[in-house]
Amino acid sequence: MLKKSLGLSAALFCAATIFAADTNELALIPLPQRVQRLDGVFTLTPQTRIYADWSSRKTASFLAQRLRISTGYPLKVHQKLFPGAPPSNDIFFTTQNANTNLGQEGYELAVATNGVIIRAPAQAGLFYGGETLLQLLPPSVFSTNIVEGISWQAPCVHIEDWPRFPWRGLMLDVSRHFFNKTEVETILDEMALYKLNRFHWHLTDDQGWRIQIPKYPRLTQIGAWRHHCGIEPPEKQLPSPAWTAPTPDKFGPDGRYGGFYTQDDIRQIVAFAAARHIVVVPEIEMPGHSEAALAACPQFSCFGGPYSTDSDLRIHEGIYNPSNPRTFQFLDQVLAEVFKLFPGPYIHIGGDEVRTNYWSRSADCRVLMKRENLHTENELQSYFIKKMETFINAHGKTLIGWSEILKGGLATNAVVMDWIGGAKQAAEAGHDAVMTPIDSCYLDHFHGRASPDNYVSLERVYSFEPIPAGLEPQYQSHILGTEGVLWTEYIASLPHAQYMIFPRAGALAEAAWSPKSARDWNDFQRRLKVDEWRLALLGVNYQRENDPPLVGWPGP
Ligand code: ACM
Repeated sequence: MLKKSLGLSAALFCAATIFAADTNELALIPLPQRVQRLDGVFTLTPQTRIYADWSSRKTASFLAQRLRISTGYPLKVHQKLFPGAPPSNDIFFTTQNANTNLGQEGYELAVATNGVIIRAPAQAGLFYGGETLLQLLPPSVFSTNIVEGISWQAPCVHIEDWPRFPWRGLMLDVSRHFFNKTEVETILDEMALYKLNRFHWHLTDDQGWRIQIPKYPRLTQIGAWRHHCGIEPPEKQLPSPAWTAPTPDKFGPDGRYGGFYTQDDIRQIVAFAAARHIVVVPEIEMPGHSEAALAACPQFSCFGGPYSTDSDLRIHEGIYNPSNPRTFQFLDQVLAEVFKLFPGPYIHIGGDEVRTNYWSRSADCRVLMKRENLHTENELQSYFIKKMETFINAHGKTLIGWSEILKGGLATNAVVMDWIGGAKQAAEAGHDAVMTPIDSCYLDHFHGRASPDNYVSLERVYSFEPIPAGLEPQYQSHILGTEGVLWTEYIASLPHAQYMIFPRAGALAEAAWSPKSARDWNDFQRRLKVDEWRLALLGVNYQRENDPPLVGWPGP
């Protein structure tokens, strides 16, 4: 039944034409690299068996569980070595004889009238093959209840698929507003639908420290709570139709707003993400955006406070003191705890918008600059980041920072997250970079279709090209990919967060996964109609494509 595989370069060449000619009725997001529509349909029945080789049983169970919820069929996973013969009304997951050219995330999906084979070199690919199969079935398969009276048919296809970029991410700011464990898991579940694989978790900022560090309990005792829920008085809240108040669980017994993740919460979230092949990238902000940490531990600031986590009302320095060796001891101890919780290779240390002018007001910092022969505050910032990088690299991890870590000289192995430029410069110097430009990837900006400049419309996200203009081909592999960024100063609830994330995350997933040559806005809009149906069934509060543009966004 399987046609012999084309080579990957030929497959890339074919992607757009085959899709347009043969598979118009499919509504896959992100669009696979190569889709061949074949005659007929496969029908899932209560008698369908799901088979998996031993190493693939968990991945197969994930699909079986999803199918049971909406079909009500008693689908179980049976372990069996792939027989090599056409299946009989079965779904088979296997790594045997997989095409290794597909890579760790690639897969082959063959849907025939008599069965389905999902074959991949690694589990991530098998998982994505299962996600694609779900999108071939009627949208009701995403229902959270049993749906009766549906013929669970998938069109026969042969798909070969692999991602264009390895980094397909979403950032959630849980400092400005807190999202609890269940809410974070909901978002992770929704990311997996679109084969997004990096969850960038912005865990600390001026408005709240959200990660339990047993050695420094004050970080969460003090730093996780504030007197006001928003960071603007309510009358200045953005006029978003999706704004909803935080749930009561976000208020402590004394009425203060906040919350934090225990170490157990974090381990569970990391495991939940791993089951969906999502790597969690924690962000611990430094040297700026650190007011909550300094409210708890003012001894590591330049001027010793006073600090308050009510930074919606008062602006404080919020910046660590690099002239105090204990500051680095503290940060090293915090990161050592963070490394124990997050097995992924990356640690994001922020590095953006540092109010370095506070440093030059400090006599101790001026002495440090003289001693280290640092001429500018930017060089002092670079000194700070380089010191942290030495510690991070010694633990076998890679440092990521926002664009500003380029200032004063980039640390040796650092990865740049480009929100206001720098990726091209970094890539040309041999550094990796992730593209999150504010005008295409900032999902806290309104969607509005008739977009003024600071709106991030769905079409703008969809048409985003992650390779920076003018970057020569020999440097392009340094662009790891892209991610959507959700800052939550004005977003206090899960429904509002979902409204900002979806459907733009699907559009960005396509920019990150699918071949550039296959990008087609009209066809995406056609597929989106089906995808909106899926999101609605899943209970996601997504932004309807045909909503009128919003007005009144005061800008970033
Ligand atoms: C940022 O938006 N300050 C990275």
